[in-house]
Amino acid sequence: MTARNSIRFLRRGEVVELTAVAPIRTVLDYLRLEEGARGTKEGCCEGDCGACTVALGSLKDGRLVYEPVNACILLLGQIDGKELVTVDDLSVSGKLHPIQQALVDHHGSQCGFCTPGFVMSLFPLYQSGAVANRKMVVDQLAGNLCRCTGYRPIVEAALAACTGKPDDAWSEARLEIAQTLAGFDDGTDLFIGDDEEFFAAPAFDEALARLTEKHPDAVILSGATDVGLWITKQLRPIRKIIFLGRMRSLREIVETIDSVRIGAAVTYAEAEPSFAAIDPDLAELLRRIGSKQVRATGTVGGNIANGSPIGDTPPALIALGAGLELRKGRQTRALPIEDFFIAYGKQDRSPGEVVAGVSIPMLKRGEAFRCYKITKRFDQDISSVLGAFKFGIAQGRITEARIAYGGMAATPKRALKTETAVKSLSLDDPAGWAAAADRLAEDFQPIDDHRASAAYRSETARNLLIKALTEMAGEATRNTRITGMREFAHAG
Ligand SMILES: Cc1cc2nc3c(=O)[nH]c(=O)nc-3n(C[C@H](O)[C@H](O)[C@H](O)COP(=O)(O)OP(=O)(O)OC[C@H]3O[C@@H](n4cnc5c(N)ncnc54)[C@H](O)[C@@H]3O)c2cc1C
Ligand code: FES
Ligand code: FES
Repeated sequence: MTARNSIRFLRRGEVVELTAVAPIRTVLDYLRLEEGARGTKEGCCEGDCGACTVALGSLKDGRLVYEPVNACILLLGQIDGKELVTVDDLSVSGKLHPIQQALVDHHGSQCGFCTPGFVMSLFPLYQSGAVANRKMVVDQLAGNLCRCTGYRPIVEAALAACTGKPDDAWSEARLEIAQTLAGFDDGTDLFIGDDEEFFAAPAFDEALARLTEKHPDAVILSGATDVGLWITKQLRPIRKIIFLGRMRSLREIVETIDSVRIGAAVTYAEAEPSFAAIDPDLAELLRRIGSKQVRATGTVGGNIANGSPIGDTPPALIALGAGLELRKGRQTRALPIEDFFIAYGKQDRSPGEVVAGVSIPMLKRGEAFRCYKITKRFDQDISSVLGAFKFGIAQGRITEARIAYGGMAATPKRALKTETAVKSLSLDDPAGWAAAADRLAEDFQPIDDHRASAAYRSETARNLLIKALTEMAGEATRNTRITGMREFAHAG
């Protein structure tokens, strides 16, 4: 089958088709420099401030869904097959959109630089038809910074606008938009450029195998929440990109009684329900990754593949005993996820090899899991320390233990000596726990850096182990946590 040599997306009711697309062109630069749509602002250009937020419409299980994304670190090729909505589109015939009007009515804007981003973060919430409450709004806006208005009037505007009945040009045109997006789904491979410089988005395993064999030097791209910054901040001259977001086989989630397999190109947002089915702490962990914008594009596979010592999912996946699947050309191999992380910046992955998926075993009867992410700022912050614990428990004693930490070593790592010490501890005898926690000093010699001192990391790691034991011994999480309380995990 021949590849398509253009990207297509829906914009203001029209199909836009572009054939000349530089591989590293961002959506923000396309909007501001090519289209001249300058309502979308450039602030940090690294995914942190939300000033550049736009909404993407796509079909998920046949349903039209809108998500906020950071246009500054999103590559133009990534929006193929989607609808792009920006703040410049919202006002129709001079009438402000209900979200814009609510921000005016509630004095939600002063200098206005952040306002387009806030409007576009709220647009998906408005379209979802949810009756918004404060918690939902705060979560929706965690990726948007305002320096002068203050958040109270913005939150009040959001609550006033998102009342459950979208009534705008998009709600009227839902069917038509969904039909156009369905028509985009031609299942073809996409290739723009030539052998020296290209943006490729294969749809099939065979095409991915061919591309990675021919171009092992190409950058593998998933959500671009890291790669986007290589472009905007490090100014890396990337010439070849292979984007995984159109690969059906990498976008699947397969749930069985025993395990969940998450395809590498599944986004954090898409993975959240499956993570929740394993344990409520995993869902809470995903909710704490970045912001809505980051979770709409960033992927579980990217979080593993980049090998960061402070990536959030690897320690939890290690503690759970997950298995990783890698694919090179037509060959696949599997390994325990902890073996993937060799040293700082070094993973067990050769050029052209792709992380294909991760299989996570469900918890069995008698097993308990906890994980905690410690950051300086609650929302949208990277971990200083992350602790994840899976224990087998019988008759009040720990019989099995898998313990992993992020932020304590050059890679996400198991605490093997501590695991041995924890096995056979009694949950009824807290006096015995301290000696086991002391063994952490043999497992880790953490570093000092701008996120946390070595002493802070060591003490926090210890406290997290004691906290996990305390909770597993029966303490209610309303006494141990300020959020993510397991007792209320399903109460919304
Ligand atoms: C504002 C902001 C907030 C963030 N907050 C958090 C946070 O709270 N917690 C956290 O853990 N991370 C956070 N991150 C970092 C980021 O989300 C992760 O590292 C992310 O998982 C990268 O995934 P991606 O799909 O965006 O990967 P990309 O940026 O597309 O790729 C990242 C790296 O992995 C490689 N790669 C990607 N997919 C594959 C694959 N399937 N096979 C082989 N190689 C692959 C790429 O070549 C690249 O080297 C944040 C980032 C931003 C910008
Ligand atoms: S400009 Fe700050 S998130 Fe994009
Ligand atoms: S209104 Fe000035 S930054 Fe928000």
